[in-house]
Amino acid sequence: MSIADFQNVNIAAREHKSNPYPFYAYLRAEHPVYPVILPDKRTIWLVTRYDDVVAVLKDNRFVKDPANVQPGFKTVTQPWLPRFALPLTRHMLNKDKSDHTRLRGLVNKAFSPQMVEKMRDRIQFVTSALLAMLVDKKQFDLITDYALPIPTTVISEMMGVPEADRHKFNRWTNAVMQVTTTRWGMLRAIPNVWAFVRYIRKFIRMRRIQPQDDLVSELVKAEVGGEQLNDDELVGMVFLLLVAGHETTVNLIGNGILSLLQHPSQMNLLRDDPMLIKPAVEELLRFESPVEMGTERYASEDISIAGVTIPGGSLVGVVLASANRDGNQFSSADTLDIQREPNKHLAFGVGTHYCTGAPLARMEGQIAINTLLRTIPHFRLGIPQESLRWRPGLVTRGLAALPITIT
Ligand code: HEM
Repeated sequence: MSIADFQNVNIAAREHKSNPYPFYAYLRAEHPVYPVILPDKRTIWLVTRYDDVVAVLKDNRFVKDPANVQPGFKTVTQPWLPRFALPLTRHMLNKDKSDHTRLRGLVNKAFSPQMVEKMRDRIQFVTSALLAMLVDKKQFDLITDYALPIPTTVISEMMGVPEADRHKFNRWTNAVMQVTTTRWGMLRAIPNVWAFVRYIRKFIRMRRIQPQDDLVSELVKAEVGGEQLNDDELVGMVFLLLVAGHETTVNLIGNGILSLLQHPSQMNLLRDDPMLIKPAVEELLRFESPVEMGTERYASEDISIAGVTIPGGSLVGVVLASANRDGNQFSSADTLDIQREPNKHLAFGVGTHYCTGAPLARMEGQIAINTLLRTIPHFRLGIPQESLRWRPGLVTRGLAALPITIT
């Protein structure tokens, strides 16, 4: 195998998404820090080894906000966005240092394990209600009928989005998340992005006037150092929480169930002993990581990683899915072992931007997978494995559909 075999690889394309592991195994072995060209013509430096990924994520010379790149270094051009959509990108995941700490402090509490524990009964209820509608069917799509409604219902409820609005809300969220970084992709999404921003602004206004017992009201009231969040910051935060917890959790459930279908002995083990669910979900997060690549970062100056100098201003992608299959960190890294211990996977990232929603995501994944196995103990893939379609895109990795036949 040589780099020529991967010369034209498009890491955002469906074909790559269906099995990215041989490419990453090759990069880890031969080119641990390697520049590839994205479909929008930007160059991204891929970092693929576990130790290097951790080093980059903990190194504050890699910045999220291009404004923090040292003067004198040219940053790759940012994708074009209409003005009204800018607040959507100015959230804490795109901020560094004190800007980030201030915003993160506001939501950390809402997603602490103690707060999330309060959601357990509600998540269980939503999950069981969905399964009650599926149990008598012969076939269903695990993504649309099960994995998707769980996180969207849970986060919408936490935010306080009224039930009557959930449908359009989900439609906008989906449309906004499918925005590609090309100008054409952005133009096509404008009507939905506009409607979405308008709705969030109105919603925030309503909560300012009449606070309720929900997360948005808490955020509106919250103060750090005597200052409240302004409307643009609130729009960014609400958007981030919706988007960050949406497709990621769907992928945990979808990729997780597919992995269990592909490893029947592991599925049987879990079905026979539901207490294994905690290590099982950790292993599923590692084995088919819902977030393939960390979000965009920039080298604020020339930085050397694994003996390769990444030029200042460059776009950098830490490949979490590759780090999670690194044989130097995990024994038999390409084997699914739901009892794996220890399992220091990087599916939720590491360092300052470590996933705020990890306790919630874990609980949703554990309840969704265990309740499915208990309610519908025997099922199989409804189509040949080769016909499975993965969604294109750079950051997340998940199935477009997972047809299930109940046996
Ligand atoms: C299985 C599900 C999930 C996975 C795999 C996941 C993964 C990640 C990863 C890898 C990051 C760091 C990205 C980076 O450093 O570039 C992140 C950040 C984040 N996640 Fe999650 N996430 C999941 C679910 C959730 C949920 C349910 C929420 C909340 C509702 C959430 C909220 C966030 C937020 C707010 C950040 C930004 C944190 C910051 O900038 O400090 N995530 N997530």
